[in-house]
Amino acid sequence: MAKPITKAVLPVAGLGTRFLPATKVLPKEMLPIVDMPLIQYAIDEALEAGIDSVMLVTGRGKSIIEDHFDYSHELEQILRRNNKEEELEVVRGFPAAGHLAYTRQQQPLGLGHAVWCARQFVANEPFAVLLPDDLVKATPGCLKQMISAYEQVGGNLVASVEVDPDQTNRYGILDVASDNGSLVEANGIIEKPSPEDSPSTLSVIGRYILQPEIFSYLDRQKKGAQNEIQLTDAIAATLPDVSLHGFLFEGVRFDCGTKAGFVLANIAFALDRKELGLELKQAIRKLMVSK
Ligand code: UTP
Repeated sequence: MAKPITKAVLPVAGLGTRFLPATKVLPKEMLPIVDMPLIQYAIDEALEAGIDSVMLVTGRGKSIIEDHFDYSHELEQILRRNNKEEELEVVRGFPAAGHLAYTRQQQPLGLGHAVWCARQFVANEPFAVLLPDDLVKATPGCLKQMISAYEQVGGNLVASVEVDPDQTNRYGILDVASDNGSLVEANGIIEKPSPEDSPSTLSVIGRYILQPEIFSYLDRQKKGAQNEIQLTDAIAATLPDVSLHGFLFEGVRFDCGTKAGFVLANIAFALDRKELGLELKQAIRKLMVSK
């Protein structure tokens, strides 16, 4: 039986250059989808999946993420005094002390390097990785669905979506060995292949369940595509020893690392809100007519 997944690593040390100037001071992960920062969606998804310990891999200029998950005595006092019960509720729903840990990636050397920075926290257990800029709208959440699939197959498991053939050079892509509906067995994974060289159109999104063997490769600190230490390369390198499956989850993924994905996520999540949906639908219709 596969070991249960109780730990999650959330790398948030990237520079977020695609969102400059917004991210000059504000971490990308603090950008809101409607009224909640991206990072909080990811943490909620991890907790819903039964994760007990979360480590954020942060970097310079990211300390407001820690403040966000801290107790704010002054704010709570004011809200209480003004009988703002609903607002009090939303500023309190955070992991309890001791369930959230932080480490720093001292240089942004790539996603693989960020995950490597969490090696002491992970120790010798399988663990989840969530990239907060990939937002998945799903019930149950994407990670919870993945954990059910992982219980059947073990090994390394990545959440996957089909992409247009001309977009393979933006993502990690699976080399598919066999396809069993929502679970795909892979015999390879490659980072950002050009459309001509891509083994498939099945891309990997920012949700992973990984075995600790990944660190034996990451320890070597070998740079790959874009001169960064790539997580994809580490997954590929452990392949003969650790199986790899792609999981096609039920739900919609928004690539909030891109402007279009971020704006679309805001629209989709806002349309679902009782207090916003109707007003927005009408306003969007009007806007579309005038375009
Ligand atoms: P991205 O590739 O989206 O990079 O990283 P980025 O720096 O965040 O954004 P751009 O491309 O400059 O706009 C994917 C995830 O990996 C993390 C990011 O924080 C994000 O969650 N990451 C990336 C790190 O933690 N460290 C790194 O060195 C690189």
